[in-house]
Amino acid sequence: MTHDFEARAAELLGPGAHGYFAGGAGDEVTLRDNVAAWDRFALLPRVLVGVEHRDTSVTLLGRERPHPFLVAPMAYQLEAHPDGETGTARAAAATGSIMVLSSQTTTDPRQVAAAAGPADRWFQLYVYRDRGLSHDLVAAAREGGYEALVITVDFPFGGRRERTERSGFTLSHPPFVDGLAGPRSLAERHAMHDPSLSWDDVAAFGEASGLPVVLKGVLNPADAVRAVDAGVAGIVVSNHGGRQLDTVLSGADALGPVVEAVDGRLDVLVDGGVRRGWDAAKALALGADAVMVGRPVLWGLACEGEAGARRVLEQLVDELDGTLGLLGCPRAHDLDASHVARRPT
Ligand SMILES: Cc1cc2nc3c(=O)[nH]c(=O)nc-3n(C[C@H](O)[C@H](O)[C@H](O)COP(=O)(O)O)c2cc1C
Repeated sequence: MTHDFEARAAELLGPGAHGYFAGGAGDEVTLRDNVAAWDRFALLPRVLVGVEHRDTSVTLLGRERPHPFLVAPMAYQLEAHPDGETGTARAAAATGSIMVLSSQTTTDPRQVAAAAGPADRWFQLYVYRDRGLSHDLVAAAREGGYEALVITVDFPFGGRRERTERSGFTLSHPPFVDGLAGPRSLAERHAMHDPSLSWDDVAAFGEASGLPVVLKGVLNPADAVRAVDAGVAGIVVSNHGGRQLDTVLSGADALGPVVEAVDGRLDVLVDGGVRRGWDAAKALALGADAVMVGRPVLWGLACEGEAGARRVLEQLVDELDGTLGLLGCPRAHDLDASHVARRPT
């Protein structure tokens, strides 16, 4: 079903929007490897343990969650479907998933928050050369009751997105951050990002927001240790869905060394290529606390709006539940390295 959405979305969206959503950087080596890497890990089941009752819940930033799935921050959702970010927020709320709203939202963060109701939500921050824009976003996130600030640290400027360059894709819906005044070409928009962003800024935005900070886009264990020293609440092991520097390590392969380096001192999330519930089980077995899912939710949204996004999330949770049963590990909390092995090549 998730895969049907992917094929249908490619037909429904024009080549410009589809190329922007689906594409990666350069030759898309990392984009492909993100998906392939999960398959290089094999599950190793236990038997005869009694799996009638299963529990997909996990603990994230000190709170119990019904399952480990978050919706990754993704820009410009009104370009995918008129339901846009509010549709995704409702789908996330209906399935107990945390939605991470992008700084490049095409809908006011307060409106998205209202759509989500009391559901938990996080806000993703891009730091722009015009720091005032980023501070305005932080203020909107606070007003909208967002509970964590996800600062994306792998985007000092845009990667080389050749599909988008070829199609000349421009936005038809203005991002909230700059209203009608902002540039519509992606190259111009990407040039708004502040390439001087450094560790000092992390602390400053954390203080300004008063929210727990999660750094998104860490791959190197040395940076993970630095994040511990910086006192952040969590990190997302991520290569931005293969959209920034081509040929970097996949999220799946980067995860283990990062988990080892931080040694439980902060929460570790992972994203990139998570397409099935069993991918998430592998992530948890390798030591992740939660996983973010990007494009599959977008394909559901593009095909059927809020209902499509919800179906994708429901399927992921259902697949994780089934995986726990067939893996002989009925509690997601108990997944560990003994449940996963490198597939022999
Ligand atoms: C269309 C699209 C837009 C994205 N926009 C953002 C964004 O605004 N901020 C951000 O931190 N990451 C952004 N990302 C990266 C995602 O948050 C996430 O890291 C990635 O999509 C996960 O990989 P997956 O799509 O294979 O699940 C975007 C990804 C896509 C596909």
